[in-house]
Amino acid sequence: MKFKRAVLWVLKGLAALITVVVTAFLLFAWLGHPKFSTDNVFIRPAGKDVFKMSDIPRGRELTSQEIDQYAAKLLAEMTLTEKVHQMSGDTGLWELAKLVTVERLKYNDVPILAGRNPRLEIPPVAFSDGPRGVVLHHSTCFPVAMARGASWDLDLERRVGDAIGQEIRAQGGNFYGGVCINLLRHPGWGRAQETFGEDPYLLGEMAVATLQGVQRHNVMACAKHYAMNSIEMVRTKLNVNVSERTLREVYLPHFKRAVDGGVASVMSSYNRVRGDYAGENATLLRKILKDEWGFRGFVMSDFFAGLYDGPKAAKAGLDLEMPAALCYGKKLIAAVESGAVPREVVDDSVLRLLRRKIEYSTRPDVMPYDTTLVASKPHRELAREAAGKSMVLLRNQGNLLPLDKSRIKTLAVIGRLAAEENIGDHGSSRVYPPYVITPLQGLRTYLDSGAQVSYESGADLARARQLAKTADAVVIVAGLDFRDEGEYIPEMPNPADRGGDRKNLHLRPEDVKLIQDLAPDNPRTIVVLTGGSAILMEEWKDKVNAILMAWYPGMEGGTALARILFGDVNPSGKLTVTFAKDASQLPPFDPPYQGSVEYGYYHGYTLAEKQGYEPSFPFGFGLSYTSFQYSNLKLAATQIAPDGELAVSADVTNTGTRSGEEVVQLYVGFPKAKVDRPVKLLRGFVRISLSPGEKKTVAFTVRAKDLAWYDPDSSAWRVEPVEHQVLVGSSSRAADLLQATFRIVPGR
Ligand code: BGC
Repeated sequence: MKFKRAVLWVLKGLAALITVVVTAFLLFAWLGHPKFSTDNVFIRPAGKDVFKMSDIPRGRELTSQEIDQYAAKLLAEMTLTEKVHQMSGDTGLWELAKLVTVERLKYNDVPILAGRNPRLEIPPVAFSDGPRGVVLHHSTCFPVAMARGASWDLDLERRVGDAIGQEIRAQGGNFYGGVCINLLRHPGWGRAQETFGEDPYLLGEMAVATLQGVQRHNVMACAKHYAMNSIEMVRTKLNVNVSERTLREVYLPHFKRAVDGGVASVMSSYNRVRGDYAGENATLLRKILKDEWGFRGFVMSDFFAGLYDGPKAAKAGLDLEMPAALCYGKKLIAAVESGAVPREVVDDSVLRLLRRKIEYSTRPDVMPYDTTLVASKPHRELAREAAGKSMVLLRNQGNLLPLDKSRIKTLAVIGRLAAEENIGDHGSSRVYPPYVITPLQGLRTYLDSGAQVSYESGADLARARQLAKTADAVVIVAGLDFRDEGEYIPEMPNPADRGGDRKNLHLRPEDVKLIQDLAPDNPRTIVVLTGGSAILMEEWKDKVNAILMAWYPGMEGGTALARILFGDVNPSGKLTVTFAKDASQLPPFDPPYQGSVEYGYYHGYTLAEKQGYEPSFPFGFGLSYTSFQYSNLKLAATQIAPDGELAVSADVTNTGTRSGEEVVQLYVGFPKAKVDRPVKLLRGFVRISLSPGEKKTVAFTVRAKDLAWYDPDSSAWRVEPVEHQVLVGSSSRAADLLQATFRIVPGR
């Protein structure tokens, strides 16, 4: 009896202790959170004649004047605390602790909220990350952005954006933080997979396609990371120096294009630009983005370490600190009260947030949203289509591919990555699809009982060689995975998940050895590469007859791969990143940098062409199972005015025996420029489909103003009145392009 009573007392004591600790923690979290002060939004009564969100009419699209007026009316109702509350994420201490610890296991499983105001019924921003799909729950995993860039297919990208928009809405979100358009300055960048490529024009066009799809569903899209965020290991510290010309012509045009295309939001990057953190950078945010470009949306910080000095960031134009009020909140209120931050600064930020919230929550929906949309059959099929259109056939000697299903009775599949669910890194863009089809599964399912598929990871080299020798064909899957590259998150408990920049641009030595050992034994050896950007392969490239770049092809990648290898799908992807012969052909990249780095004017194909390097595979390159012939390049005029346009057309004929899709590219060359210019720049592209023997005429419009250079002395864009070239063809390689010239003539 005594013993029982003692146990009871101990248990009671324990319960009391737990209650005290939990209450103290909650109280601490509540009071200690910098967002809360005594006139807290949650305890202030609404009042009868207060103008609230529900007073704004719904069911029709409001004009921008109406949106402005309603935003101003809401603002007029708000206390300073409420205003500042709009300007940071709603993540409290408890959630914050969860985010950086437990949730790292499934980060962003539910939307991350910012600026919910129950009194005025203002909805929060409900954030989901991307870009390879929706990070929430178990959504469709598309090929990574770098792969989708290689499709050069704006219609496809719009449909991917559309599916992403639907899946976000179906899971309670209204914000997509996944339009990553950092220019790939160097293929070693750990997050290369998240962007679309190395060319500003292509980045801008792809960004607009994504955001149009996403925003159709009343989901705000966010272009990130603004700006110059192209090195990973020291991303939160690095200072990037850049000349004004390089900034304007190389690193910013795609952000401007996204703004012109109506992007709702922009996320600042972690790094510094010319000394100031991007999130506190008045030149980038206030002067260029908001004043010069007329951006009316809001700027969100990158998460946790996007700003350090709240007042400075607010004045510079950073509207929303995510995911919690670490530098804003109480500190910003105090800065406003002391006069260190003008009230108008806060009002401007809040108006920007309110405008977007009003626009996106009152516009009628185009469809109902429920969870059956998430990873639905049409979306999975879209993921497969995207994978099929983005793989790039780099080499196909003697037309080894496509394989003939009726002749392949034994197939050897070699390489550890053949059996791995390899869909990208383990950083914030990680999507958790309901399943992933690996290359091995895809091939096995495709061949079914028609052929014997044997697998060897490569660990047993003798067995791999034996299989390769006797098989009708060999597929070696080699390349990169999350262990080699990815967003750098040093807090990840498992070191393999931490990502970072690539240590070198080659395959792993064991993969090179596997290829070199196996290829001589079987001329029907195909190397399938995975990874987020260029791979150096001079040491083995000529030893195999077929090479296919599959990138990180998403949840349906294995199925798409089998369909390409056996010719059900004709490859049509083209590189959006130059594959150099060796690292000396690339800009300097030697992370971890200490302090500062200078980003130069040239990189990628502009660098290779300027320096006369021949890359391994040029920008825009990709083979098909059919052949295309280009002819009849026509310019509508030989001269245009500096504000004029030029109509250009060319014929493309499918001269092979299979239907195929071709990415027709237009470049403009500057051979007579007096200022330093690249040899040529991409200024148009279109994907067309042609049956055997079919010919199509492809039309482009070249606008003279898109050929301008930025004159830092007069802070103005200038078009040179000289002869220019128009080049149209199948890749950036001179031999693949037709050319004609025209002149820009002032005063016409
Ligand atoms: C990344 C962003 C991402 C954010 C939120 C940051 O670490 O740099 O790209 O959107 O986290 O997940």
